[in-house]
This record gives sequence, structure tokens and C-alpha cells, in this order.
Amino acid sequence: MSAWSSRPPEQLAAWQRLAGLAARQAEADLPPLDADRLARFSGRIGPLLVNFARQRLDDDARRALLALATESGLAAAIRDVLAGHRVNVTESRSALHTALRMADDASEGGTAAGQAATEARRVRERFLDFAEEVRTGGCVGVAGRPIEAILHIGIGGSHLGPALAVDALGGDGPEVRFLANVDGAAMAAALAGLNPATTLAIVASKSFATEETLANAAAVRSWFIERTSDPGIVARHFAAVTANADAAVAFGIPPARCWPLWDWVGGRFSIWSAAGLPVAIACGRAAFVSFLEGAREVDAHFRDSCLRDNLPAMLALLEVWNGNFLGAATHAVLPYDHRLRLLPEYLQQLEMESNGKSMRLDGQPSGIDTVPVVWGGEETNGQHAYHQLLHQGTRPVSVDLIACARAGHGPRAHQDALLANCFAQGQALWQGRAGGDPHRRIDGGRPSTTILLDELSPRALGALLALYEHKVFCAGAIWQVNSFDQWGVEAGKQLAAPIRSALGGVGDEPGDSLTNGLVAEARRLRVAGPHDL
Ligand code: F6P
Repeated sequence: MSAWSSRPPEQLAAWQRLAGLAARQAEADLPPLDADRLARFSGRIGPLLVNFARQRLDDDARRALLALATESGLAAAIRDVLAGHRVNVTESRSALHTALRMADDASEGGTAAGQAATEARRVRERFLDFAEEVRTGGCVGVAGRPIEAILHIGIGGSHLGPALAVDALGGDGPEVRFLANVDGAAMAAALAGLNPATTLAIVASKSFATEETLANAAAVRSWFIERTSDPGIVARHFAAVTANADAAVAFGIPPARCWPLWDWVGGRFSIWSAAGLPVAIACGRAAFVSFLEGAREVDAHFRDSCLRDNLPAMLALLEVWNGNFLGAATHAVLPYDHRLRLLPEYLQQLEMESNGKSMRLDGQPSGIDTVPVVWGGEETNGQHAYHQLLHQGTRPVSVDLIACARAGHGPRAHQDALLANCFAQGQALWQGRAGGDPHRRIDGGRPSTTILLDELSPRALGALLALYEHKVFCAGAIWQVNSFDQWGVEAGKQLAAPIRSALGGVGDEPGDSLTNGLVAEARRLRVAGPHDL
């Protein structure tokens, strides 16, 4: 990892140059969207078209961003992550999610990536066999009846990817439900109408130590046993995806039903592993393989393209440009496709858990802002809610507009309406609207990138998620933060344990004075509440 920059980003010559160019941007006319710009500020990877012509980027700024990438050692960073070097320095681990989707004939050569790919392939064959068995009714439960429903229990990276992919791709397999939040209402909704004799619960937890997941898994286990009076049902109706098989076995899940994860795959990058089991069960082996192939096409592009043509790198540079130089404190992800409505939530974790850091890799505090707040939602719904702010708000927001050229379902007129609105919003954000009335006038010049998928196939979805994964890594490398740890989430988890005990009546002063007061008030209010009646 020696070729990564050893100087803080803001001390690099290109950073200084970008600051000057950004100051000039405020007065600059918008570049004309001529054919030359459309061709040069755009790229394609398989089923994805990525167009960033409507970014406030001229050739000078683009050159300076590429110089920043070069001075940051981004090419070396890309080589290092793909080769399996320990880029996750705070945990001394590699980040080899790309090995989960390497081709079967990928050269192994004894490298860390090759070894990981071999291991991943071995496990993949087994879990895909299992998925097919479940799909085709070959997996029967204690009552001799085939599995008809999957209840997937997990949270964060063990939930968001599978939930997004199942929602996006649908599938003709058994119904798949998700239980993430430790909330009785969520559990009741997830279990409503399920028959334990025909339900398979999958507990997905890399650590098998996450409070919410363990609480839900234990409650669901009780639900199975109480409804069948058969403690033996757990061994036949549960499976696990985890790096902590011992804990899963102690829970009651047989080793043969525990699909491994490895320390070299982070939860938010794990959809390509057995964490994708519900996707394979819902959509089938061929679709899951195609999903991996789409990601692999992006991996090849990421590995083989020079920085100038490298789309994930360019998206990262645009995030830096908009966030660090043009004042965009937030970034909106706007999918014009109902099936991608969970994408913003998925990207919130991918971007903000990865790069929401203020400590550099060298252990020094960062002198610059890192990842913007990522938000968004299904379109066109958002147009009738928050787009007002996108067009006329005081703080600029950078935007990803995402749509599919072909819907493959529903009335053609509806798909045309979605696409028309997607394209129109990009245009309106960019060109604004002239007029004498200041309330009606829209200044324009608001940046957006348009990502157009051929259609929402497994391949295209795989490509889209891999595009964002690599973008996140590149942005982290430029900001010089470790994109693969998440130490910040630990503190709250630790504080919650004594507070939970106190709410249950054990201990009185579990936190600071406000926490203690709130606990006392909650306990007082619950005396007459349904919990205690
Ligand atoms: O709390 C954050 C986190 O550790 C995420 O990084 C992770 O995806 C999620 O919790 C779930 O963790 P696990 O898969 O170990 O249950």
C-alpha cells in the first residue's frame, strides 16, 4: 500500500488547484450540452449507461480531479483492494467482496484474491444447490411439507442488500419476508399468516452477535416451537449465514445449514455471498449467477480502465468535487423505478457506514469533509415532496437519477412517464427557468448524474451495485479514510445494554442524568401499560 498518498488530501497540489477552479465555477456559464460533451462526459459498462454531462465540470476541473486521483495513489489503491491487500487497516483485513463474484476459471495463482475466490466458489455451489432444493419443493420440513415461505432475519448489511435485490428482482420462488428491526410490530407483521410447517427462517449475521438479530431469531425460534410443540423443528426450519458458526450451532442450527462468511467480506459488501441466499431462493440459480456476472463486468472495467475512463472512480471524484468544492452537503439517490425503491436505503449504509469517518488512515483527524449525507426515495413520488428544495433550496444537492429504459412489465405509457420525468428533472435542475418573477425563477446549474439501465435484469442490478461499491472505495481512498470499518456504531450499542436492563427493572442509573430520567419516566408510564397488565 506504499503508493497511496502519504500527504493529507488537502495538501496535494491538485486539491489546491481544484479550490481555485471551484471559485471560478460560481461565475462560469454552464457548459453547452453539445455532442462532444455528451460523448466525453459519459461511459457505458455492459447494461449501464452513466452520463455526467450535467455536472459543473469543465475540462480544467476534470483534469484537476484526475490529477487528484493520481496524486492520491488511486490506481495503486484499486490494485491493492482487488489483490486482497489488507486495505482495512484498523482491522488488518482485506476487502475481497470481488472474490465472491470472480469467474470460475479466474486465475488463482496462489494470491489472496485467488484463494478467497476458490473458497467462495466452493461455498456458492453448495448454497445454490440448497436454494434450488428449497425453490423446487425438495426441502421438506418436519411435517413432510415443502417450504413455501422464507423469513430472513438480519439487519444492516445482512439485510439491506438481500431486501433490495429480492424487491428489485421479484422471482417465482417461495415468498420471502424480511425481519430486521427489533420491534414487536415488525415481528408480528413478518410472521402474520406464516405456517411454521412450511416456513424456513434464515438468520443472517456475520457476527452472530448483533442484538436485534439475536433477539428476533430467538423470538422466532420460540414461535416455531410453541406452535408445533416440537423443539426439533429448529434443526429443520432454520439456516444461518455467518462467520460465527459456533454461535449459530449453539443456537440450534445444524452445521450443514450454516453457510460461511469470511473476515475479508464486510456486511455491507456481502450480498454476493450466501447472504444472497434469499435472492437465489426467490429468483433461482441462473438469476443469481447472472447477478454476479453483472458485478464482474464492472469489476473488470474497474480493474482495467485508466482513471480517466474509470466510471466508479469518476463518480467518486464527482462526489469529492460536489461535496468538498461546490458546497453540496447532501447527495440524493433518486430511482425512477418502484422496484429500486430500497436503493437509497441500501446506499445510505454503503456510503455513510463506509465513509462517514473523520479519522484518516494515518490516525490523524481529517482536515476536510468526507461523505455527504445520502438520502433519496422512489420517484416520481419525491417530485411531489422534496424536489422543490432540489430546484430552489439554498443548499445545493448533488443528484443521481436512475432509470430503466425497458420496464418489462406494466403499461408502456407508465414507463414512458417515468422516463420522461427522470430526464425532465435532470434538465430542469440543470437549465432552470428564466423569468421576471423571482418566486418562479429557477437558477439551474444543479448537478446530476444519470444512470440508465437497459432493464432491471439480475445482471444490470449486479452491475449497478458493484458500480457504487467501487465508487465508495475510491472516494474513501481520496479522503484517506478506511471504508471498511465501522467503529462509530459501537458506542451506542454498548450503552444500550445497561439501559435495557434498567428498563427491565435491573439497575437504576444506567446512563447520564437525562438517560436516567427517561428510564425512570418510561418505567413509571409502563406500570399501567399493556406490558404490565
Ligand atoms: O451495527 C453495524 C453493523 O455492524 C453493520 O456493519 C452490519 O452490517 C450490521 O451491524 C449487522 O451485523 P451482523 O451481520 O454481524 O449481524
